[in-house]
Amino acid sequence: MDHFLYRDGRLFAEDVALDTIAAEIGTPFYCYSAATLTRHFGLFDEALEGLDHLVCFAMKSLSNVAVLKLLGDLGAGVDVVSGGEYARARAAGIPGERIVFSGVGKTRDEMAQALEGGLRQFNVESEPELLVLDAVARSMGRRAPITLRVNPDVDAQTHEKIATGRKEDKFGVPLARARDIYAQAAILEGIEVVGIDVHIGSQLTSLAPFEAAYGKIARLTEELRADGHDIRRLDLGGGLGIPYIRDNEMPPLPSDYGAMVHRTLGHLGCEIEIEPGRLISGNAGVLVSRVLYVKEGEDRTFLILDAGMNDLARPAMYGAWHDVVPLVEPAAGTPRRPVDIVGPVCESGDTFARARDMPPLAAGDLVAFRSAGAYGAVMSSEYNSRPLVPEVLVRGDHSAVIRARPTFDDMIKRDIVPSWL
Ligand code: LLP
Repeated sequence: MDHFLYRDGRLFAEDVALDTIAAEIGTPFYCYSAATLTRHFGLFDEALEGLDHLVCFAMKSLSNVAVLKLLGDLGAGVDVVSGGEYARARAAGIPGERIVFSGVGKTRDEMAQALEGGLRQFNVESEPELLVLDAVARSMGRRAPITLRVNPDVDAQTHEKIATGRKEDKFGVPLARARDIYAQAAILEGIEVVGIDVHIGSQLTSLAPFEAAYGKIARLTEELRADGHDIRRLDLGGGLGIPYIRDNEMPPLPSDYGAMVHRTLGHLGCEIEIEPGRLISGNAGVLVSRVLYVKEGEDRTFLILDAGMNDLARPAMYGAWHDVVPLVEPAAGTPRRPVDIVGPVCESGDTFARARDMPPLAAGDLVAFRSAGAYGAVMSSEYNSRPLVPEVLVRGDHSAVIRARPTFDDMIKRDIVPSWL
């Protein structure tokens, strides 16, 4: 459930009509609902009730500092994957003890930055990374708390580009090597082993792959404890999918996920961390865009929008499906016809949907891409020198621009023309 609903025929974000924001700041823009973010965070928090737990929002899905502050104030931790994300999390006031640092290619600088500023743990992904982290921590006179990300060789049955838990994927260490690497970690002075980490992929629509992976983690926990390691924390990653409102697909609810975690891991007495991104932010955001032209092709109709693949990359990148709805609610029974929904960028990949059944729309009309809160703004670029899309946060009847649209000057002044040119 989200808070983008029609009222008297106009699409609202909570108590703010989206067309009023469009009139104020122009299009395209992202708009997020604080109530939806709050609700989705709460669902996970409740689902793990009874277990010592921390919900670490995967901020790669939506990293605006205002959103992080909102979630941080609710008690959320964050999962960061770069020095930049770490800096954003701290700027949002998230305390170090609620920050986990993931990622397959952490640099020495990033390790030092997080050790200096404080963090909950690093999720280490390889032996060479473990050795570098040990060296960095020792050079600072610190011990780095770590989990080792294991690759359970489970197929998450999701899109090829976002599956991460099969042995051919670049992530984690093979389960079969885990005990050896833990033995190695235990004798490194700069390293303190605190637990195990796993993340098998994103947009999972079934609990079965999670359950298969977590069963393997439960067994590994017991083996490692028998080897003498103090495994007290399990980071279970993110990945629970959301409905993108197509074919009525209905991914499991956070409560089902939580019950499965209780069932598979509850007996171990570990602290549980999860790293959901998409389920918290995905349906908490829309991308609002204006129809520039309706162009009749030879045998297709093109709806040309002012948002492009640089603003919302998922359809071009993954063939992802986003529901597109007009800001003015069509009357019941309005006939629909298939149109291609495209952006203005100069390549055919800039296509959001082909042959999508849409109600009649004309130049100047506004539409919203739903489920665009996760991996929307964060993956946008200035391709074609189109300035980054602004972001707006709504709470009740308050709305605020939380990232302004850069001017052309802002964009251009980042380039430097050398004096010798
Ligand atoms: N933890 C780790 C270590 C991850 O790599 C990810 C996502 C998450 C948590 C959060 O997963 P979520 O709960 O959001 O599914 N750009 C793609 C998604 C990439 C996901 C990468 N890792 C998309 O637009 O679908």
